[in-house]
Amino acid sequence: MSDSRRIKIFDTTLRDGEQSPGCSMNLQEKLEVAQALQELGVDIIEAGFPIASPGDFESVREIAANIKGCTICGLARCNDADIDRAWEALKFAQFGRIHVFLATSAIHREFKLRMTREEIIARAVAGVRRAASYCDDVEFSPEDAARTERDFLCEVVEAAIKAGATTVNIPDTVGYATPASYGSVIAMLKNRVPNIDKAVISTHCHDDLGMAVANSLAAVENGAGQIECTINGIGERAGNAALEEVVMAMKTREDYYHATTGIVTQRLVPTSRLLSSITSMHVQRNKAIVGRNAFAHESGIHQDGMLKERSTYEIMRPEDVGFQKTDLVLGKHSGRAALGDRAKALGYQLNGEQLQGVFDAFKKLADKKKEIYDGDIIALIEMQLHGS
Ligand code: KIV
Ligand code: ZN
Repeated sequence: MSDSRRIKIFDTTLRDGEQSPGCSMNLQEKLEVAQALQELGVDIIEAGFPIASPGDFESVREIAANIKGCTICGLARCNDADIDRAWEALKFAQFGRIHVFLATSAIHREFKLRMTREEIIARAVAGVRRAASYCDDVEFSPEDAARTERDFLCEVVEAAIKAGATTVNIPDTVGYATPASYGSVIAMLKNRVPNIDKAVISTHCHDDLGMAVANSLAAVENGAGQIECTINGIGERAGNAALEEVVMAMKTREDYYHATTGIVTQRLVPTSRLLSSITSMHVQRNKAIVGRNAFAHESGIHQDGMLKERSTYEIMRPEDVGFQKTDLVLGKHSGRAALGDRAKALGYQLNGEQLQGVFDAFKKLADKKKEIYDGDIIALIEMQLHGS
């Protein structure tokens, strides 16, 4: 669709995702994931937080030096030491970005930073300026933006852009926002910050209330041009917006969002599986897009519909996200049509009476067994045809 906007996908699996308990990766593993992300077509890889540890520094530096074709980003707090260290790690990137952040909400200002609004603005401006002295791609995040007073958020964002930020990210750090509230913050920034068109507005949503994907999409509807997300939605606490979900929502409902990405969607499942195998953090079976059941149909009515015309019960094609094909799972809810279809695929031509006999035996077995495998079907058919 020609009037669609191109939304940048900023993947933070290796930074915010790695902050997920149990998800830390070694250098080799991070390089493997970064390579997979580049092949997936993400625009920006946030490779780590260089000052956090020597290991983080080394992995950002190695990813920057070896992964080409997309932007490599490193995180820094708004202080000279962090920013200098980030650039030291990023300087060999084909395209490097420094991402500086500073909390802006009253709660963070009062209890964590003990800084006034004026001090926050001055520190943000100094941080952005220092980052801009190293590279022309600078992102600024007012941490906890979703809980920041609106007037103050506008002031900080305007000052950061004036100081040289080319992307302003609006984190919902604690996953507190709702789609309507988060969308309205983006709309407000578009309307009230005079220099907003000089920067890309980015979303960064956490999933504490299960709304990270919905919030990110609401931001796109209101003018955001970048989504920060992670593979399988891994991240601090309940995680970040899941990359595969935001991407497929925009692709499947392009008629609604009028937005596209550069993601090679056929790489979604392989990338998800690579990350699961490296981190041992498995996705649940019914996880949208990449879960094992995401394209599996068991009920007889659905299977019958699918065999007649797949769009009856399928809004995406499994091949488009990297699955081999739709899985018509045979279980106690399945019907004769699906059983006949599987028998044919297994090489058996059954007449109506034979199929009915196999079907009766199949239903009895399905009441006892959670999953029916092809071996079970073959045994039932053989029993029906030859009595053995
Ligand atoms: O959630 C958050 O606020 C972050 C920032 C560092 C962008 O991860
Ligand atoms: Zn975060």
